[in-house]
Order: sequence, then structure tokens, then C-alpha cells
Amino acid sequence: MEKSDKSLILVSNRLPFQLLEQDDQLTMKQSDGGLVTALISYFNAESNRDVFQQKKWFGSADFPEKRWKKFKKQSDVQTDFTIEPVFIDKKVYNKYYNGFCNATLWPLFHYFPSYVVYDQEFFENYEEVNKIFAERLLKVIKPGDTIWIHDYQLFLLPQLIRDKMPDATIGFFLHIPFPSYEIFRLLHSPWKEKIVRGLLGADLIGFHTHEYVQHFLKTVRMVLGYDHHYRTITMQDRLVKADMFPLGIDYEKFSTASRKPEVVQKMEAITKNFPDKKIIFSVDRLDYTKGVTHRLLGFERLLEKHPEWIEKVVFVMVIVPSRQIISKYNERRILIEENVGRLNGKYSTLSWQPVIYRYNNLDFEELCALYHVADAALITPLRDGMNLVAKEYIACCSEQQGVLILSELAGAASELGEALLVNPLDTEEMSEAIQQALTMQPEEQRRKISQMQKRLIDYDVHSWVNDFLFQLTEIKQQQKTEQQK
Ligand code: G6P
Repeated sequence: MEKSDKSLILVSNRLPFQLLEQDDQLTMKQSDGGLVTALISYFNAESNRDVFQQKKWFGSADFPEKRWKKFKKQSDVQTDFTIEPVFIDKKVYNKYYNGFCNATLWPLFHYFPSYVVYDQEFFENYEEVNKIFAERLLKVIKPGDTIWIHDYQLFLLPQLIRDKMPDATIGFFLHIPFPSYEIFRLLHSPWKEKIVRGLLGADLIGFHTHEYVQHFLKTVRMVLGYDHHYRTITMQDRLVKADMFPLGIDYEKFSTASRKPEVVQKMEAITKNFPDKKIIFSVDRLDYTKGVTHRLLGFERLLEKHPEWIEKVVFVMVIVPSRQIISKYNERRILIEENVGRLNGKYSTLSWQPVIYRYNNLDFEELCALYHVADAALITPLRDGMNLVAKEYIACCSEQQGVLILSELAGAASELGEALLVNPLDTEEMSEAIQQALTMQPEEQRRKISQMQKRLIDYDVHSWVNDFLFQLTEIKQQQKTEQQK
């Protein structure tokens, strides 16, 4: 294949690495998130090696420009991408990130309308940051490049680029739910129109589930009056396609983790701590959407109804700190800790504590060790775009033993139908599901896990990247054919 002179431009609010400082020495640590891993392996595949000449990743910098310059001078590290930090004034960033992104869009898109903050200044700063990204990108984009924008922080960016480069190839993927129009309409009118127009600047708009695609198509019709044929919207100048791309995981990485000596060591240490006990496990970023307090009530109800589990089961619950400046997040943390304290106070004995609660980050080895030793994973968000924890747990069940209890309101539920699906608000139903999980026969566990594993192998994160980029090329082709008609 001839070497191409085209670039792939990735854009997300967060950059896929951290800048660390130790003893006056700056180092860069690439994040091990699914998206980064997938893209790297996409680029490394023989057949894709020459598709893009350059790969650049733009994202907001969480470090000062001075430090970045120092790092660039000090180091000649080769990364899989050229990292392009976008520097944003702290005050502007605060109103954009803690404001419009996470106090307006996030609660609304997760069906928490009563948590939504309506603040014009937040929106103006959101527009401002999207414009800063656009200006920066427009300096580097060349005709023929592929631009792939990620998530709700950058809804306005596709159109801002399209305005200046009408022929650009732009893909957008939304990692959170797209809510029903009844919810979306609760946004202030001018904002909702700008958001829909912003998104329609893309050629391909991807969502995790069929339902989110349908919600989006209806929203486009209601807000701007554009109709669609199947999943294609015909605008004055272009066809735009909305489609479903359920984000997968790096299956191989998780399914082989239990062979790593560090993971084995950690697994042994955990099982030694809880001899003859069943282990239930959950891990979430701190967020009111994750349903943690309802989950604790479900577990408490189990102990109440089935006292035979007292001293025979532990619930290891890990919460990863997140968005701490926002009051709703802090309030949630306090509420969770009160509930854990109350439950442990009520049921603990001198030699047993029902909930082992940890508020901290987990490294990959420890996470996999916990997935591996858990008899059940209890994943019960009140809303979740996808939820990759559910998929990672299934991939780690290397002996096909384990039970997934999953909220029917997580995007992952539409792919993982063999899980014990629960309504996360119904504590009675949740306690029954836990009971069923703890008493499920090994044969049934094996049957369910192996069916889910097959599906996750078939559409892993690599297929996801391939699928999205392939469909983006296709829609561009279709647009050309339409123009020639
Ligand atoms: C969700 C969002 C991402 C976001 C992540 C972590 O998965 O879809 O866009 O990056 O949460 O949240 P944070 O605010 O810490 O970036």
C-alpha cells in the first residue's frame, strides 16, 4: 500500500496520558484506557500501518504550559501519538468542565433533571472552550485528514470545524447515553439548538446502543425539523449518518491478566483474607448515576432476608475519586460513607465486617485480581452509557465461574442478556438477584459466562475502532455519490 499523507486527528477533553513530576524530572505516563489501547493496536496492525501518516491527539491540558515546554525540552520520548495539549484559562475551564459539562449536560443526559444547573455563563464558557479547540485544530488539519471527536464535552466542535472546512471528514462518538427527547427538551432552547447543530457538523455520529440512536434521530427532527431515512439524515448540503457502535474492551488484555504473577499474588492475598467466604465486588467512579446507595440497600436487604449469609459473604466496594469540586459529588460521597457505616455498624461481628469499602484508585493488577476472585459482580448504575466494568468482569472469569448482576439501565445490558438483569431502584429485586447469584450452580454460571464471553470476543475494542473508521469512509463515499447525481 502506498504511504498516505493523511493524518488521524483524535480529540477528547482528556488527553490519554499524565505528566508526572519526580525529583525535578518530568515523565509521561500513557493511560491504559480502552480507547488508547485500541487505537494503538489499530495503528500497529499490518493492514493499517500506512493508512495514516500521522496520528495526533488533542485534549485539554491539566498542567501549565511552562511545564509542558520544559518536558518537551527534557525528553525525546516517542509516543504512539503526537500529543497536542490545548491550554485553557483556569477560570474558563472551570465553568466549562465543572459547570456546563458536569453540572448541566451530565445530570440531564443521565436522567437527573432535578440536578441540572441552568447558567448562561456556564454555556458561554462551554462555547468558548469548543472554539479554542476549533481554532487550534484548524491550524493543523489538512484536506483529506480524518477527525474523530469524542464525547459530550465537545458537542459544538464538529460544526465549528465544518464552517471553515466544508469537506472535512468528521466522526463523533458519544460515550454517555443520549436521552429521550422528553429529557433533552429540558435544556434551555438556544442551547439545545446549538448542540444539535454542533453535532450535525459531523459525517458520522456514533452511539453505544440502538435506543440512543433512535433518541438522537427523534431529537434532530423535533429540534431542527430534519427527517431521516433509517439512520441517515438528509441535510441541505450533506448526508449525516447516526449509528450504533457498542464500545468493546481489550478482551485479550483482561482475559490473560490472571496469568500475570503480580495478579496471582494479589489474588492469593485477597482469598487468604476471606477464607470460606463468598465475595461480591463492585467498582465505580464516584458518581450519583452509579446507584451505589441503592446497591447498599439491596445488599442490606439480602442480609435481612437471608441471615444464613452473615459471616459468609463480604461485599468489596471500591469507589474511585472523581469530580470532587462539584457539590453533588461530595454530597454523594458523604451519603455513601454514612450508609456503609450504618450497615457495618448494624451487622458486623467481632470477626466479620459485611462491607469492605475503599475510596481510592485501583491499579490494573489489583482490579483484575478482584474481578478474578469475585463470586459475583454487582453493577447497578441508575443510568450508564455503556459500563465497561461489566464487560471487564466477564473477560476476567477465566474459569467461566462468576455471576454478573447488571442494571437494566446500563448500555451494556443490551449486549449481556445472560446476566442477572435488575432494576437498580428495586432493592427487593436486587436482594433476590444477589441470592440467586450466590447459589447459582457452576454449570449455569459456565453456560452464561461463556455465551457473554463469545460476544465480547466477537466485538472487542479493536473491532469497534475498525467498524467506526470504516463506516466513516463509507458515508464520505455515499456523500460523493449523492453529489454526482
Ligand atoms: C465518562 C465520560 C468521559 C470521561 C470519564 C471520566 O466515561 O464519558 O468523557 O472522561 O467519564 O470523567 P472525567 O470527568 O474525570 O474525565
